[in-house]
Amino acid sequence: MRLIAILGLLPALAAAGAGVPADLDSLEHEAAGLIPAFQQQLLQTVQTALKAGGPEQAVQACQQLAPGIAAAHSRSPWTVGRTALRLRNPDNRADAWERQVLEDFARRQQAGEDLAQMSASAVVAGEYRYMKAIATGEPCLACHGQAIEPELAALIEQRYPNDQAQGFRLGELRGAFTLRRPLPEPAP
Ligand code: HEC
Repeated sequence: MRLIAILGLLPALAAAGAGVPADLDSLEHEAAGLIPAFQQQLLQTVQTALKAGGPEQAVQACQQLAPGIAAAHSRSPWTVGRTALRLRNPDNRADAWERQVLEDFARRQQAGEDLAQMSASAVVAGEYRYMKAIATGEPCLACHGQAIEPELAALIEQRYPNDQAQGFRLGELRGAFTLRRPLPEPAP
């Protein structure tokens, strides 16, 4: 009896020893669940501004509101944001793990995999990390595509002098949602 009880504990002990909680699946589920509302609000903000004042106003809205929208969707202990290999806002710069994941997403897309299904997760330096690929959709091309209206291009250039987030083709990997949180304390 006693032996069985101890054996039953072994997987839990092994997980605790590795510093990895047993329920990474539930963290993944939680992370994925935070993305739709974040994505939805970003889209709505761009679309409302586009309707109200055209692309110029929409760029302004993105610049002023995108960081705050990310903050508003970061619910303790989670932090949500976006990143990419080619950036518009330098504050969105990818760290080493994010860059590796983005490069992997791009490689897999070139090999024929569907971006819509791509996500990645890992435990990095005591944090749970999750990323989900973002494809370049039709409404994104006005501001991230290959033929940006000259007036709009000038405005982007003025607000983002080091902008690299242009020249994307429909369907191409634009970037990723990126989420992180400290690992939960192991149960006592
Ligand atoms: C009206 C112009 C405009 C449209 C349309 C637009 N974006 Fe952006 N995008 C911006 C601006 C401005 C930023 C920088 C704002 C920020 O995140 O601080 C940005 C930033 C981003 C970022 C964060 C990484 C970076 O480069 O800083 C991603 C990812 C992104 N856009 C994807 C998209 C996608 C996907 C679409 C289509 C669904 C889209 N954008 C539509 C203007 C636009």
